[in-house]
Amino acid sequence: MKVLIINGPNLGRLGTREPEIYGTTTHADLVNVCETSGAEVGLEVEVRQSDDEGQIIKWLHECADSMTPVIMNPAAFTHYSIAIRDAAAMLTAPLIEVHISNPHSREDFRHVSVISAVAHGVIAGFGVDSYRLALKAMSDLLVR
Ligand code: DQA
Repeated sequence: MKVLIINGPNLGRLGTREPEIYGTTTHADLVNVCETSGAEVGLEVEVRQSDDEGQIIKWLHECADSMTPVIMNPAAFTHYSIAIRDAAAMLTAPLIEVHISNPHSREDFRHVSVISAVAHGVIAGFGVDSYRLALKAMSDLLVR
């Protein structure tokens, strides 16, 4: 079973972006972690990253059409993109929202997610491990 992992804006800068918050793992390292963790739980993983809202919406439409499960870190779009929420609401297989940091322990504007209500669940605050936990949760969901 294939799972698409979608990473939103500025996540391509992982490794050098605010390392005190996001750690020093690069996006390329994260891709490796996701592919390895996915294989361990029987999932074929593809990771895509975009800074562009329209691109993310197109990927969500593709996933809706192909019934592909999605793990998404919408990054800053989490907090205000109704367009990404509406696209996520059309998905036909499970969606898990992930965050590297715990947005609830940060600035007030990060406390709201417009995505969570259309996700099966949310995993946040475990660093890059949030993705490994999300892949395990997705695998459990899909074999249920
Ligand atoms: C983030 C949290 C968001 O608030 C922020 O805008 C990001 C990353 C995280 O993974 O912790 O870009 O989604």
